[in-house]
Amino acid sequence: MINLNYENTLVSAVGSEGISPEKLESLKKDGFRILEELKEDPPGFMQLPLRFEEARDISARAASLKGFKNLVVLGIGGSALGNITLHQALNDPYYNLRSDRPGPRLFVLDNSDPAWTESLARLIDVKETLFNVITKSGSTAETLANFFFFLEKLKKETPDWKEHIVITTGEKGFLREFADENSLRTFPVPEPVGGRYSVLSEVGLLPAAICGIDILKLLEGASDAMENEHVPVIYAALQYYYYKKGKNINVFMPYSKRLESAADWFRQLWAESLGKNEKTGPTPVKALGATDQHSQMQLYMEGPRDKIITFLTVNETEPELRIDYGGHFLSGKSIRDLFNAESRGSMQALTEASRPNMCLEIPEVNAYHTGELIYQLEAACVIAGRMFGVDPFDQPGVELGKKLAYQILGTE
Ligand code: PA5
Repeated sequence: MINLNYENTLVSAVGSEGISPEKLESLKKDGFRILEELKEDPPGFMQLPLRFEEARDISARAASLKGFKNLVVLGIGGSALGNITLHQALNDPYYNLRSDRPGPRLFVLDNSDPAWTESLARLIDVKETLFNVITKSGSTAETLANFFFFLEKLKKETPDWKEHIVITTGEKGFLREFADENSLRTFPVPEPVGGRYSVLSEVGLLPAAICGIDILKLLEGASDAMENEHVPVIYAALQYYYYKKGKNINVFMPYSKRLESAADWFRQLWAESLGKNEKTGPTPVKALGATDQHSQMQLYMEGPRDKIITFLTVNETEPELRIDYGGHFLSGKSIRDLFNAESRGSMQALTEASRPNMCLEIPEVNAYHTGELIYQLEAACVIAGRMFGVDPFDQPGVELGKKLAYQILGTE
């Protein structure tokens, strides 16, 4: 199972910058109490890991959708970031370029920047493409704008355009009505699940299954994670403690390029869930080891003491990639040795500089542990939300910008 190593946050490791065992114990008690309360009336994200029957049904339906050359996901925020995370973590880094890939090429269009939409339209043949339009509300403008653009193309280029669309949406909204009127294939977004907590629902599972990811293993990892309560409780407790101590920046730094997008997903989870009431909200910052050692580490080591660093390391041994270049200090070592030494070096250096840091130790980046990681971070976020006294499931602050954009368009 995933382990949270928090040694480097303790007084014994970082002196007065650290948390005392007594304080941690008392915050842990709060965390476990919150978790018990949550379990009495489980919010949507806690129900998803147990939906094995639905996942089997998704797998079966996904199998019939694999025949396309391209899968284009149209969605934004919680309707896109989880998909990108699963794909980057669990499929080959050059998946789209591989002829032996286990599904269609995948493109996730999660922006209304027309340059990207236009470029994708030039790259793909819509007659060989399945569009999975994902929006819980069924009315998100960025998603609909891209959908309408491709819909027009589809209608022009193929009489069986309906076969090229799958809609994943909530019970109400424009897209639900559109799907019903046109008898399109649909998948539900379960009602109690908010966008950024929805990756383990149809939102993330369908595209993942079409692209060959074992979605039952994802759920297995997530459901087993429910038993490993120490991880989210301690993570939330430490984040809460350090925020109150003025460390209001949470750097999330995987030493795994496959988990780079997980950091984007985490950023949304943390920011939209905890940034509330003008008072609360650790700022999540994404960094990537070892790349950002050459970009951000100077700041983390010698900049203001306003950060708490979360490392993610993966305990894999393959591929190793031995280096043989006589006389050089790297000779006889492997690229993996270097990578591992760098993560350890970073943690040690920060600790020696009394900069608290912790590490989520992941046995392997596979479907099981990715499901586990997703669930643990969601649970930690909700527990932290309760500690901060905010509602981790709403996002009222994003409404005004949308409203003003629609006014500028002249539609309100
Ligand atoms: O977490 C959330 O609820 C949001 O970030 C949504 O995922 C995002 O705004 C997209 O919404 P929708 O799925 O309704 O298109």
